Formats: sequence, C-alpha cells, structure tokens
Amino acid sequence: MFAAGTDTTYTVLDWAMTQLLRHPNAMKKLQDEVRCLASDKTKLTEEDLVQMHYLKAVVKETLRLHPPIPLLVPRESTQDVKLMGYYDIAAGTPVIINAWAIGRDPKSWDQPEEFIPERFMSSSIDFKGQDFQLIPFGAGRRGCPGTVFATAIIELVLANIVHQFDWALPGGVTGQDLDMSESAGLTSHRKVPLLAVASPKE
Ligand code: HEM
Repeated sequence: MFAAGTDTTYTVLDWAMTQLLRHPNAMKKLQDEVRCLASDKTKLTEEDLVQMHYLKAVVKETLRLHPPIPLLVPRESTQDVKLMGYYDIAAGTPVIINAWAIGRDPKSWDQPEEFIPERFMSSSIDFKGQDFQLIPFGAGRRGCPGTVFATAIIELVLANIVHQFDWALPGGVTGQDLDMSESAGLTSHRKVPLLAVASPKE
C-alpha cells in the first residue's frame, strides 16, 4: 500500500509540474481556472475542485504521457485465451502490458508526443479502466484500488501549489531545456530531479 501509493503519486506531480513549466500557456490556463474558481480561499479542499475541468485534463494528460508504472504489474494468463481472434495466449504465459506505449499510440491519439490537456476537455475518455487507450491504473478486477484516492490527492496538491505560487525555472533555464529523461525501473521517475522556484502569487 505504501509503495504503490506514495511513489506513484509524487511521480505524477513531478511530471505534471515539469510539463506545466515547459508549457507556460497551460500553466497560465490552469492558474486562471484555479484562481478564478477559488479566489477568496487560501487553502483549497476537494469540494473546490469539482468545477476545475482544466485541472482534471492536466492530470489525465500527465498520466497519458507519464504513467508512473509504465508496464503495469506483470500478470499470468490462468487459462488458454484467443485474443482478438488471432493471438493464442497459452495458460501460464506471463503478460506484460505497456501502458506507456498505449498512451502514445498514434492510432489512438493526435500528436501523441505533445502535452495537450485540451484534448480531454471535449472527450469522455477516462482512466477508470473502461477506455483501453488510457490505462495508467490498469483495468479489470486487479486494477489499482487507489485510483480515486490517488487522483484526489494529485488534483488537490496541484491545485493548491499553482493557486498559491507562481513558478519558474532557476538560472535562466527555459522549459525546453528541461531534461525529460525517465529512470528505468518499476516506476518511471524523472532521471534528473526537477528544480523549480516558487514565489508567492502577486
Ligand atoms: C497515480 C497513482 C497510482 C497509479 C498510476 C497506480 C497504478 C497502479 C497499477 C498500474 C496497478 C496494477 C494494476 C494492474 O495490474 O492491472 C496498481 C495496483 C495497486 N495499487 Fe495503485 N496506483 C496509484 C496509486 C495508488 C494508491 C494511492 C494506492 C493506495 C493507497 C494504491 C494501491 C494499489 C494496490 C494495493 C495495488 C495492487 C492491487 C492488486 O494487485 O489487486 N495505488 N496501481
């Protein structure tokens, strides 16, 4: 529970902030939404997030490009299966699902390598396991039981930090200079830690 729940959640926040710093227009749009809908508050709660559709789109887009468990959890077929009419998977075969590649598949996504949260503003695609082009939490009976909790935490933290602070990269670094390398392993972190400077909003 601790391993599955902490590493993953902070990794998504790390990538979300990385993408927002690389895309100042998206950062501004998110800050405008959050600051407009919660202008009189200093600390946002879950109820404040309900109308924040761009915030939810930013989180979905981050999970599409950077699923923190890129190959999900390895499974084993319990019986012989014929998949899509022509793949024979024998009982006992280990099955690895590449959610990272699925999230960047050009057959499912326009400009798959680009960070475009707007793609989710007019789409019903969600990560709850019904839409197989977006499965950062897996799907089916053994899909992640922490999905709702994780997304609530991610949205809450992200909304609060962009509400309270303006963000910049230190030392004249531009968003396009940011190293986007991913670490190898069960979870996929930034290889180089993200350094960002927070200043209280004006
Ligand atoms: C962004 C955050 C998270 C992501 C992307 C994520 C992703 C996943 C994935 C891909 C699986 C395997 C699903 C499969 O094989 O189909 C999984 C399993 C699991 N997750 Fe998460 N998870 C996240 C957060 C959490 C949190 C916050 C908790 C608990 C508080 C949690 C608890 C678990 C547990 C217990 C399992 C094992 C379920 C089983 O095997 O039956 N996860 N998660």
